[in-house]
Amino acid sequence: MTDYRQAALDFARQHKTDFLNNLKEIVAIPSISTDPERTADILRTAEWVAARLRGLGIEQVAVLPTGGHPVVFGEWLNAPGKQTVLIYGHYDVQPVDPIELWHTGPFEPTEVGENLFARGASDMKGQIIATLSAIEAIVRTGGLPVNLKFLIEGEEEIGSPSLEKWILENKDLLKADFCLNPDAGMMGKETPSITYGLRGLAYFELRVYGPEHDLHSGMAGGIVHNPAQALAELIAAMHDADGRITLPGFYDSVRVLSAEERADFARLPSTEADYLALTGVSALWGEPEFSPQERTGARPTLEINGMISGFTGKGQKTVLPAWAMAKISCRLVPDQDPEAVHQQLKQFLTEKAPKTIRWELEKFSGAPASISDTKQPGVKALSSALETMWGKRPLLKREGGSIPVVGQMQTILGIESVLTGFGLPDDGVHAPNEKLHLPTWYRGIDALIHFFFNL
Ligand code: BES
Ligand code: MN
Repeated sequence: MTDYRQAALDFARQHKTDFLNNLKEIVAIPSISTDPERTADILRTAEWVAARLRGLGIEQVAVLPTGGHPVVFGEWLNAPGKQTVLIYGHYDVQPVDPIELWHTGPFEPTEVGENLFARGASDMKGQIIATLSAIEAIVRTGGLPVNLKFLIEGEEEIGSPSLEKWILENKDLLKADFCLNPDAGMMGKETPSITYGLRGLAYFELRVYGPEHDLHSGMAGGIVHNPAQALAELIAAMHDADGRITLPGFYDSVRVLSAEERADFARLPSTEADYLALTGVSALWGEPEFSPQERTGARPTLEINGMISGFTGKGQKTVLPAWAMAKISCRLVPDQDPEAVHQQLKQFLTEKAPKTIRWELEKFSGAPASISDTKQPGVKALSSALETMWGKRPLLKREGGSIPVVGQMQTILGIESVLTGFGLPDDGVHAPNEKLHLPTWYRGIDALIHFFFNL
């Protein structure tokens, strides 16, 4: 009897360079979903993914409109009686600014030592290509042991605003036993892990308006409430001295961590020193009664993602600005609702904003947190695949990041996600000089081959 598993692993070993070249092709396309100037590149990336799926013999491959950026769909259903795995990915990436901090062009993939540098190398084009490479190795050496469907979207990095409706309208097309979602990472290159919890997100823009136009700060200073100052005062009031968020009712629906969950967090190997090294700050901050692992994995936050007002050019200009703006987002935990948080922020502003200014609040994307079932068979298959490759049992962990589709699939399709990925904490995702650790990536491809055979 042919050992199909071994044949696929041999194929993967012999085709590492091809897999890497394939990855270099896709990361070279600047598919920044938030940038309206990149719409053509977004389409080009979707077509690239579709072509790659067709090349693997996947059927019904199509680039389908959503109202926003398109999704790529495909399926291979020729293993009757076997499970159907829905594979999720996102082909879009985050913006590259501050561009001047990149050592090499973000869309000119560059190998340095064991790493490949490029925007999207880790989050998550690298993870899509790892999955497709594992599938290619299996397809070329005897065939797939499971049925597959693919849903590769182009709006994850802007909160998947069109996906929920698209999933609702395509429920039958997406029928599957579970979803493999490789958009989460590992804790370290020798610490395989499976993610079962993700935070949600609610994203806002707050604009504060003062005088009709910029004023001479000598003439107006002292009589006009500076909008930059008013915005800073409002933002400062959104936390108390212990790092707790002061929006009215913000914590009301936050699910309390059980003693068991807290014990799980305490077992994670990361230390305060690891967080200091990873972030480069001189001291950590946040709610003192929770550990850093709990604060990133299971506590909600309110972050200022950016602020702008007045004169920010070189040199000096004595101006009292007419307006100020902040991008604000909250990471959410079970059972917070993004729309409820929107209302809480609105109420906070209604109560706290001074009469001297006018404010406007705009809500962008929103997605609730998700907790995935760790007892489902897909987790078992992945766990043993990771153990085969790393020689140790993977850790189960909750992540601070968000992937809106995970909750959408639970509520609309009733299916659970198995979350994995072969990115590392120091990959610089969403930051300058994003990279992918290639030895870990190749190991991940082998792990995915094992995963498909374990099912
Ligand atoms: N891959 C990340 C999510 C992630 C980050 C999972 C860290 C596990 C660990 C994903 O691409 C991402 O960055 N999502 C956005 C979603 C948001 C815009 C709704 C995020 O978390 O900021
Ligand atoms: Mn991301």
